[in-house]
Amino acid sequence: MRVLVANHPLIAHKLTYLRDKETDSPTFRRLADELVTLLAYEATREVRVEPKDIVTPVAPTTGIKLSNPKPLVVPVLRAGLGMLDGMVRLLPSAEVGFLGMQRDEETLQAITYANRLPDVLTGRQCYVLDPMLATGGTLAMAIRYLAERGADDITAVTLLSAPEGIDAVAEELADLTIPITLVTGAVDERLNEHGYIVPGLGDAGDRLYGVV
Ligand code: URA
Repeated sequence: MRVLVANHPLIAHKLTYLRDKETDSPTFRRLADELVTLLAYEATREVRVEPKDIVTPVAPTTGIKLSNPKPLVVPVLRAGLGMLDGMVRLLPSAEVGFLGMQRDEETLQAITYANRLPDVLTGRQCYVLDPMLATGGTLAMAIRYLAERGADDITAVTLLSAPEGIDAVAEELADLTIPITLVTGAVDERLNEHGYIVPGLGDAGDRLYGVV
């Protein structure tokens, strides 16, 4: 798995305010949205394109356009939803699928509770959105799910990642031969005994949507 840690002062600035426990939900949502758009710019560096002939007011020329099939953006419910708008702002023609996964707070294992995705993803480039790469269980399961349905290039976008989670995902998916990339805003110190990223930002779902 290729890991790209976005290194940009604007990203570090927004992450600092996102981490702050004094930041309220509306501000947290706005910052997460802005951060994703910056990360999406990195994540789509290798989005597939094809030539497109056009005529400017001055002369004919050849540019590029996104290839078909269009990329598929897959937010992992629920916290991944907070990243969707920021991602499709840069990729408005992308299709969107949903995967509902959550971790069992006792075992820290990921379970799937909802799935709204095309059955066949052959040849699709997919972007998986999940703000926190903690133990890696959910993300590895989501990526494997897409790969088993034929996706042949998968990029995960996370706001924060734990080193343990990155290692776990890379190890868990070592048998996959397709390109897998992780684009993340920062790699934090570690996971604590409750599976939270340290220093992290707390529970991303709760901070986005409240404790429900
Ligand atoms: N999920 C979160 O929302 N926060 C963490 O720190 C770890 C997993």
